[in-house]
Amino acid sequence: MSKYFYKLGFNPAFGQSEFNFLSTQKTSETDFKWLFSNELIDVNQTGSLVFAGEIFIRFPKSELKENFSNVFQDISRFLTSVNSENNEYKKVGFSLSGNIFQKNADKKFLEVLKSSGSKKVNLLPTGLLPNFGNFKNTNKWLILVETDTELFFGRVVNFANQEFWSNLDLDLPKRDMKRGIMNLKLARSLMNFSSSKNVWDPFCGQGRTILSGLDFKENLWASDIDSKCLLECDKNLEFARGYFERRRLGNKNEKLEPVAAITLSPFVNNNNSAQTAVSPLTNENNELGSTQIVQNPQQQTIAPILSQYHSPAFELDAQNLDLAGLHFKNLAIVTEGFLGYNFTNSADTAKMSLEWGKLEILWKAILAKASSLEIPEIVFCLPFYQMGAKKFLPEFYQSLTSGTKYQFHKLDQKEDYLLYSRTQSFVGHFVLKVVLA
Ligand SMILES: C[S@@+](CC[C@H](N)C(=O)[O-])C[C@H]1O[C@@H](n2cnc3c(N)ncnc32)[C@H](O)[C@@H]1O
Repeated sequence: MSKYFYKLGFNPAFGQSEFNFLSTQKTSETDFKWLFSNELIDVNQTGSLVFAGEIFIRFPKSELKENFSNVFQDISRFLTSVNSENNEYKKVGFSLSGNIFQKNADKKFLEVLKSSGSKKVNLLPTGLLPNFGNFKNTNKWLILVETDTELFFGRVVNFANQEFWSNLDLDLPKRDMKRGIMNLKLARSLMNFSSSKNVWDPFCGQGRTILSGLDFKENLWASDIDSKCLLECDKNLEFARGYFERRRLGNKNEKLEPVAAITLSPFVNNNNSAQTAVSPLTNENNELGSTQIVQNPQQQTIAPILSQYHSPAFELDAQNLDLAGLHFKNLAIVTEGFLGYNFTNSADTAKMSLEWGKLEILWKAILAKASSLEIPEIVFCLPFYQMGAKKFLPEFYQSLTSGTKYQFHKLDQKEDYLLYSRTQSFVGHFVLKVVLA
């Protein structure tokens, strides 16, 4: 019997996959929007898990008594005992969610809580689960939730600061959110699909991938074929530095700290000589601002490289990964990639094939080169198209690894890939991961 529960976010399959990457046991069961496991992980690092908690009591549906009398009794007994020991739940939030409960069921539970020693109860209307705003007001939350087979009663232990990422997304100075461009939460999920602490996004655009890993990766690199994007990425990074700083100063309990070093021009310095200097966000005291020397991920000096890759823009066609002298063995590529044409109407078959044809050539070239460089892991996206409920998937993906040392790492329980889309968009993200065989 699992001891912990997890609320899955907007895309449950992503939540499950992220959980598998972050947990050591990798065994979990899911029930629609919930995941259960015997391991507790901090969901704050994820893009798609909302909160995690500990299960205190389970009530199989087959054993529910009329008017939930056994549920009231057991919860009351539990709270009375804990409250009389240490007033643990004297001030508490309470939420009950599931079709099984009638609209005013929360009021009945309020009585139970009050008579069991909980004096100040932040009660959510029946059916609502606590969100980030609720956690800010009340830090202890008890929940009673219905799944397919049971009700479970437990306490929320940790939650993701999704508001931070949504706000940062909205506030970025450069945010051309055309359809198909991901948000920071999706970016964070992609980052978690690689355990490498050193990540390069060779299609950085406005920089959301690297921004999303600021608090848990160590070294981040960004490049793009388009120098305009690089200037925008630079602006966004500058802004994010200040954003983290303001949050940190404004809230002493703020958990998010930018710890990663970021480089827009990783492979040369302005003197065009061998370099290890990059512009990290933090110094050795974890304070923001000053530039310091950090080691490159290969733990050795990067060889002097091509003069055209000058700071601040690192302009590079992702097909030319093999920059002279670089060692990639400790580096993963995590990228949204290039989704091609931005369909604003339903795509037709001819246009879809045209787009996929171009991307097939691009990714075959990249994977062939990456394979010869032995880059251990690549997480990337291709576009898929949707018209209403119908989805058109880039089936060609299967041929991308042929002739390379890569194999697909299944991101989903059944499939190699995960799908991410909003119902109103015509283009979605088809997410893949390859690893060296
Ligand atoms: C969907 S955008 C990436 C958006 C990005 N994730 C962000 O947060 O803004 C795709 C990017 O790929 C770049 N691109 C397209 N072809 C490329 C290539 N061959 N090599 C490198 N970058 C390329 C484009 O300039 C564009 O910035």
